[in-house]
Amino acid sequence: MRHACIRIRKSALKHNFNRVKQLAPQSKVVCMVKANAYGIGVQPAVEAFAEADAFGVATLAEALEIRALGNQKAITLIEGIVEADEMNVVLEHKLECVIHHHTQLDWLLAHKADYQRLGLKVWVKLNSGMNRLGFKVDEIIPVIHQLKNEGFHCVLAMHFANADVPDHPMNQQQIDQLLQVKHACAPIEVSCCNSAAIINWADLHSDYVRPGIMLYGASPFADRSASSLDLAVVMQFEAKIIAINPIKSGEYVGYGASYRAEQNMTIAVVSIGYGDGYPRSLFSQNHVAISGKKVPVVGRVSMDMITIDISAMKDQVKLGDVVELWGDTQTVDEVAQCNQSIGYELMCRLSKRPKIVIED
Ligand SMILES: Cc1ncc(COP(=O)(O)O)c(C=O)c1O
Repeated sequence: MRHACIRIRKSALKHNFNRVKQLAPQSKVVCMVKANAYGIGVQPAVEAFAEADAFGVATLAEALEIRALGNQKAITLIEGIVEADEMNVVLEHKLECVIHHHTQLDWLLAHKADYQRLGLKVWVKLNSGMNRLGFKVDEIIPVIHQLKNEGFHCVLAMHFANADVPDHPMNQQQIDQLLQVKHACAPIEVSCCNSAAIINWADLHSDYVRPGIMLYGASPFADRSASSLDLAVVMQFEAKIIAINPIKSGEYVGYGASYRAEQNMTIAVVSIGYGDGYPRSLFSQNHVAISGKKVPVVGRVSMDMITIDISAMKDQVKLGDVVELWGDTQTVDEVAQCNQSIGYELMCRLSKRPKIVIED
C-alpha cells in the first residue's frame, strides 16, 4: 500500500500545552483549534488539550465538529457570526461570539435574553491598527459600555500584527490602544496574546491567552527554532521510497527536465507530492531525511512523487525505506523557509490523502 503518513503525537501536544501554562500560569487558555487544529486534526487536539479553558475556532462548522465529539467546553468564534440566523446555532450549541462590527452587535442584542441565560461571554474586538477586524478605539468604548449596561459579560479582545517581531514599533501603539480601552471600560477581562506574544510579553498575558502554532510544535518566529522554545515536535510527516534508479551524467530528472545530473547519480522516488500537500514551489533546495540524514530533493515535485538524490548513501538505502519530509530531523519551519512559506501554512494545507496515525 502507498505510504504517505502523518504521525500526530499527543504527548507532544500535551507538552506544548503545559509549556503555555508554564509561561502564562495566571491566565486561562483558549487553545486555537481552527483550520482542523492547524492541520493536525481536531480530535487529537481537543483530547490532548483536556485542561484548556476554551477553544478558538474561525467557523461555525469548526465549532460543531468539537461539539460532535461530545466536548462541552467554552468555544469562541473568533470572527463571530456572518449571518443573523446563525445566532440560533450559537445558542443551541452554547458558543461565544466575537463581535467586531455594529451589525453583529444588533444580532447579539436581538438575542440578549437567551445569550445571557446561557452564561455566554461576548468578545469585543478592538482594531488597534491591524485593520482586519474590530472597532476602533473611539467606537469600541461606547459599544462595551452599552453591552455592560445591558448585562453582558464582555472580554476585550485584540490581536497583534507583529508579535513575531518584538521590537516592531507598531506593537507599542497597539498596546497603548488596548490599555486605553481597558482603563476606559474597567473592570473588563482582556485577551491579546497569540503564541509569539505569550512567549515575548509576560506582562500582557491578562485573563485569556490564545496560543495556536506553539501548541502544534512549530515556532511563531522566523529566527527562533521550536526546540529553542522548548516546544516538542507534534507532526512527523513521512513517505516511503518506491523506486531507486541509477542515472548517468547529463541525464534529466522529472517534469520540465529542470534538473540535469552533473555526474552519475542514484535517484530515489518517494511516494509524496503536492497532491498530499507537500509544497511544490521550492524556493531554494529542499531536503528530506533518511535515518536522520538529510538528502536533497532534485527535479520538480509531482502530484504524487518527489525525486531525491541518494548518491551519498546509496548503499544504506533500499526500497520501502521511510523518508521524513518534516518532523524530528528537519522541522516544518525549515521546510517552510525553503519554500518562502511558514510552518502554519504547510501544516494547514496538507491534503486528505496521507494516512493519519495518532500516537500517544
Ligand atoms: C484571533 C487569533 N488569536 C490567536 C491566534 C493564534 O495565533 P498563533 O497561531 O500565532 O499562536 C490566531 C491565529 O491566527 C488568531 O487569529
